[in-house]
Amino acid sequence: MSNLSEDQKSLVEKINILKREKNAIVLVHNYQRPEVYDVADFIGDSLGLCQEAAKTDADIIVFCGVSFMAESAAILNPGKMVIVPFLDAGCAMSDMVDAGALKEFKKKHPDAAVVTYVNSSADVKAVSDICCTSSNAIEVVESLPNKKIIFVPDKNLAAYVAKNVPDKEIIAWEGYCPVHHFVNKEYLDEVRKEYPAAKIIAHPESKPEVLKEADYIASTSGMIECAKKDDADEFFVITECGMTERLHREIPKKKFRGLCNLCFDMKKNTLASILRCLEEEKPVVRVDRKIAEKASKAFDRMFSLTK
Ligand code: 13P
Ligand code: SF4
Repeated sequence: MSNLSEDQKSLVEKINILKREKNAIVLVHNYQRPEVYDVADFIGDSLGLCQEAAKTDADIIVFCGVSFMAESAAILNPGKMVIVPFLDAGCAMSDMVDAGALKEFKKKHPDAAVVTYVNSSADVKAVSDICCTSSNAIEVVESLPNKKIIFVPDKNLAAYVAKNVPDKEIIAWEGYCPVHHFVNKEYLDEVRKEYPAAKIIAHPESKPEVLKEADYIASTSGMIECAKKDDADEFFVITECGMTERLHREIPKKKFRGLCNLCFDMKKNTLASILRCLEEEKPVVRVDRKIAEKASKAFDRMFSLTK
């Protein structure tokens, strides 16, 4: 349990009562505010959240993350109601590609398979061959028969995959995450000097020069596993600022430091807005049925390869 104020405790209680009454679950990404963890039925990375969304028996999914994640839950659960506190909680990286531009790009590389990182809109997924997340991108690319891969939209994740799957030609889209992309090697050198005992864990959305220096490269949930397994008592994580809270909560005996780079859209959700959303059962996340059918094929391929 987080260190909650009396007001927050009362909000948590109200949300939990409504969840039971409405047979609702709350899915929460690791970057959410710590008090939001207290109403979560599941906290995880994009892959874990997709898996939970795909298997739930709940009637309502309250999604606490950003829009591409909630859209994914809606695509994977066509008969269920997916609601979010704010429809405009977006992802800067996912806005760097649109379906029209990707369709044009594909024409230049007709023999390539399109691997799309889940940080993308449903429209983009609908014109892709397969989805991937930060925890299975290498596995997904390795498993494809195509030699040529268009990797969308993160150029840093694309470079990480290219390094690990050298027999494929990876054609990267020019997208990036502003939270991770502006960290450089000089910054890491300073971290090493200041905290020589700390192991560095970097998210694969980081630049190649950063990943090269890291002790571990992992998705947000993968970071928790790395820190649990490693004997070190101190870690520095190169990812969104909220991840250190999540790590403290999972592994209270170890010390975690990190960047103060915020993903503002991830921080929009509050307990009050979650309660309002559950009371009013809106806003509802809607994905056009034809788009959802096409996008769900890209998800199915990912799930069948990475079970
Ligand atoms: P994860 O799937 O590793 O949680 O990453 C999602 C994300 O948006 C990272 O910036
Ligand atoms: Fe998107 Fe970056 Fe925010 Fe993740 S941290 S949701 S990739 S903008």
